[in-house]
Amino acid sequence: MEIEETKGTLENPERILEQMEPFMQLMMKYRCALMEVETKLNVLNEEFAMQHNRNPFEAIKSRIKTPTSIIEKLKRKGYELTIESIEQNLFDIAGIRVICSFQDDIYSIAKMLTSQDDIILLQEKDYIKNPKQNGYRSLHLILDIPIFLAKEKKHMKVEVQFRTIAMDFWASLEHKLKYKKNIDNPESVMLELKECADVISATDKKMQSIRDTIEKNMI
Ligand code: GTP
Ligand code: MG
Repeated sequence: MEIEETKGTLENPERILEQMEPFMQLMMKYRCALMEVETKLNVLNEEFAMQHNRNPFEAIKSRIKTPTSIIEKLKRKGYELTIESIEQNLFDIAGIRVICSFQDDIYSIAKMLTSQDDIILLQEKDYIKNPKQNGYRSLHLILDIPIFLAKEKKHMKVEVQFRTIAMDFWASLEHKLKYKKNIDNPESVMLELKECADVISATDKKMQSIRDTIEKNMI
């Protein structure tokens, strides 16, 4: 009877709220960092569009990691479950995905972004030049960017993933495979996906060279 009564009630709501406050503060700061990077990308997009008569991005998507995935990742990697540990160990709390039409635009925009003097490039993984075994291709950057709050300037980390439209299409299907447990013949599906990734990359390169030919003839 006693167990029934306490079920679903909070033992110490004040304590929970006390712990939530710094977590919410930190998430707010990651949202601000996302806004900063997104604005920088939109500014570059505007300028590029004016110079080249086309937009380098098809889309920009951003997200903040959910509390559940934050806790799951800290546990999986054996890190402490504290606010400090989130900041020190997880670099993808704030994430932006930039979907471009062409591979060479990815490198131009990434270079323009990382050369800005308030941005520090902490880590770069070029899975376009060095694709993963499964065929995955994208350029991943971990950036350090300052945000300016009422009483402090705080450096935040943001993960930016650049990929082409075709690579994004591939990655979303491949991502589904990771979460499906009961697929018949997963090895052959993986092999087919790898083949698609290679075809996609070759097509991306061909499209780029067709674009160059068209643009040369326009002048
Ligand atoms: P995580 O522990 O997942 O963050 O890996 P990591 O820190 O070694 O980072 P990595 O740069 O390799 O990958 C980070 C993110 O890129 C992932 O969370 C995915 O969003 C994406 N990603 C990386 N590899 C793959 C892949 O093989 N397939 C797909 N669909 N996405 C991938
Ligand atoms: Mg990561």
